[in-house]
Amino acid sequence: MPRFQTLDDIDVRGRRVLLRADLNVPVKDGIVTDATRIERLAPTIEALIEKGAKVIVMSHFGRPDGRPDPAYSLRPLVAPLRQAIGGREVAFAADCIGDEAKRVVAALQLGQVALLENLRFHKGEEENSPDFARALAELGDVYVDDAFSAAHRAHASIAALAHLLPAAAGKLMEAELGALTAALENPARPVLALVGGAKVSTKLDLLRFMIGKVDCLAIGGAMANTLLFAKGKEIGRSLTERNMADDARRLLALARERNCRVILPEDAVVAPELTPRTGSRIVASDAVPGDMMILDIGPKTVARIDSALEQTRTLVWNGPLGAFETPPFDQGTAAVAKKVAELTQAGKLLSVAGGGDTVAALAAAGLTERLSYVSTAGGAFLEWLEGRELPGVAALADAARTAPKGDAA
Ligand code: 3PG
Ligand code: MG
Repeated sequence: MPRFQTLDDIDVRGRRVLLRADLNVPVKDGIVTDATRIERLAPTIEALIEKGAKVIVMSHFGRPDGRPDPAYSLRPLVAPLRQAIGGREVAFAADCIGDEAKRVVAALQLGQVALLENLRFHKGEEENSPDFARALAELGDVYVDDAFSAAHRAHASIAALAHLLPAAAGKLMEAELGALTAALENPARPVLALVGGAKVSTKLDLLRFMIGKVDCLAIGGAMANTLLFAKGKEIGRSLTERNMADDARRLLALARERNCRVILPEDAVVAPELTPRTGSRIVASDAVPGDMMILDIGPKTVARIDSALEQTRTLVWNGPLGAFETPPFDQGTAAVAKKVAELTQAGKLLSVAGGGDTVAALAAAGLTERLSYVSTAGGAFLEWLEGRELPGVAALADAARTAPKGDAA
């Protein structure tokens, strides 16, 4: 794991802390529909308050493309943020830099919190502009990054800013990196990667990297159809990337070479179309009727994955195993999730999961709290599983290398 400073290494008492958060949460009609990211951020804010800092929270929200756009204002996040930190006041600055931001920050007392307007209202954010980073740096004395889920973006508040102020990881960033490191860098073996989702094409790099790292790879979701197709199976009208067949065969060859066991669906839940409660049935995965499509893994496949999990000590999971938003095609994913939760609770398995759909599927099954760690990240989690360096993590590591020794608290 790259070495970085944490809240224990920097002195924040009486100082203005610029806290990069990821408040890019799902909002519908002005209401936050999943507050997980806000709740996971709260302990960092509370720790900073406790240490007597002034806390200035900054985040992006959506993709407003460098222009102010009321549809992407962070103002509706003030109330949920306030609620997450025990009802404390949260001041709001209608711009994240300049006089308005300076005025709000100057009015903060020790232990008080402000939220700045959407960073992406300025082009400089996504351009990683040094000028924009300097304008942000004027507002703080110390920088804390708690936005692991945005760490794959080399943006000004994530990359450039980390070099301008003493920098540290917040508690959520620390937890995310700790969990991912435990699962992939020096894991207890055997390690199993459970990978699902619609397309092989979007996960080629991930699958390649996983094959080199893990002992067993279990694949579900529509991407498994492409692998079955590449092996010459009859898969009917199933969603398939036929043009990926060569890549799929190369992946399977690589797995053989690397001694990585691959579990593909041996049976499947099929239906004529993806609608709730259509006439679905279970068939062998090489005998899908021509007018049917695979929409979930079948019970034999669940049993095979379950028994592989029983032999596993570390699990990394990304991607649902079926069309989980449309019941009954959520059942394969839910059954495997239940097994993962049981083994984790029995102390037999370290389980780490992430990615938007995976997190939603675990939440729908009510199992989020029963895995070892569920990441708040989507894209950043994927890039980590591809073995890529994340700019946000690299910036913290760089900052730690160049930190003046005297800065430790
Ligand atoms: C996310 O929700 O995945 C992060 O906040 C990053 O958002 P982005 O994909 O718009 O950069
Ligand atoms: Mg995204």
